Amino acid sequence: MALQVPIVNAPMGGVAGGRLAAAVSRAGGLGMIGMGSSATTAKLEDELAHTRGLDRPLGIGLIGWVVDREPALLDAALAARPALLSVSFGDDWSWVARAHDAGATTATQVADLDEARRAADAGVDVLVARGAEGGGHGRPRVGTLPLLAEVVEQMSVPVLAAGGIGSARALSAVLAAGAAGAWVGTALAACEESLLTDPARATMFDAHSADTLTTRAFDVALGYPWPLELPERVLRNTFTDRWRGREDEIDDAARDCLRAAIAADDYAVAPINAGQAVGQVTSTEPAAAVIARLAGTGT
Ligand SMILES: Cc1cc2nc3c(=O)[nH]c(=O)nc-3n(C[C@H](O)[C@H](O)[C@H](O)COP(=O)(O)O)c2cc1C
Repeated sequence: MALQVPIVNAPMGGVAGGRLAAAVSRAGGLGMIGMGSSATTAKLEDELAHTRGLDRPLGIGLIGWVVDREPALLDAALAARPALLSVSFGDDWSWVARAHDAGATTATQVADLDEARRAADAGVDVLVARGAEGGGHGRPRVGTLPLLAEVVEQMSVPVLAAGGIGSARALSAVLAAGAAGAWVGTALAACEESLLTDPARATMFDAHSADTLTTRAFDVALGYPWPLELPERVLRNTFTDRWRGREDEIDDAARDCLRAAIAADDYAVAPINAGQAVGQVTSTEPAAAVIARLAGTGT
């Protein structure tokens, strides 16, 4: 799969829909539709509709434990004939052979060398070395550069770097360290083609690199069965100040307050997934402009 720009947009549930994926692919990278914790086949079909007529490769990213609960998601993703299929955060690898049979290249996110070995042994074609700086869910074990260095050194498959890549210099750094490309989430999350609302974008623009943390508080409150070792990196807010580390005490009043805040776009309480590169996200731009800037060909 020859790309003009070595950038894959990270599959971001509720953020990277068909419009963002198509824009990234048109800009010379590989766009991916992300299906997150609340994914359904209907939502995937809706997002795929935005990519009709696209004459560039496209990827789809799923979450392992969500596919376990809704196997039809994998069927729908494969029926769309993606160039790249990623399934992260699961340990049933049967999807790899099915994706290969459907002609897709396969990828998965790994947080340490053991995970990288298991994925490569399962036949995954591309490993995503996802460092602890990254936004959204992941095992925050090792920073991007040390993780990338050891995965590149020990494994023979191509490796994409993920976590904290938000500038042309950062992209150059991971390419110099042996990455085949970058898997970029936070830096593309506020693009005008993303599914984020304007208040969510504005909250990201105000945030600095030190304003994120990892937590399970939102998942516990919203009833998402993420495994214990997979917290999400989010912007710190009043909900995380109150409930991070006290998840067992989250009560109905807190749950109601959180749901109301999500419905009202109130990000003093509601979650925004973002990694430490958020400090470099300062305005709403078309994805093509962000891709050009990261690739060093834009302003
Ligand atoms: C808003 C947002 C949503 C995300 N949703 C998903 C998801 O649905 N599935 C997934 O595999 N990873 C998800 N991630 C994690 C990304 O795949 C990737 O690991 C991360 O964005 C890389 O770090 P960065 O945010 O610093 O670029 C998400 C990340 C963000 C920022």
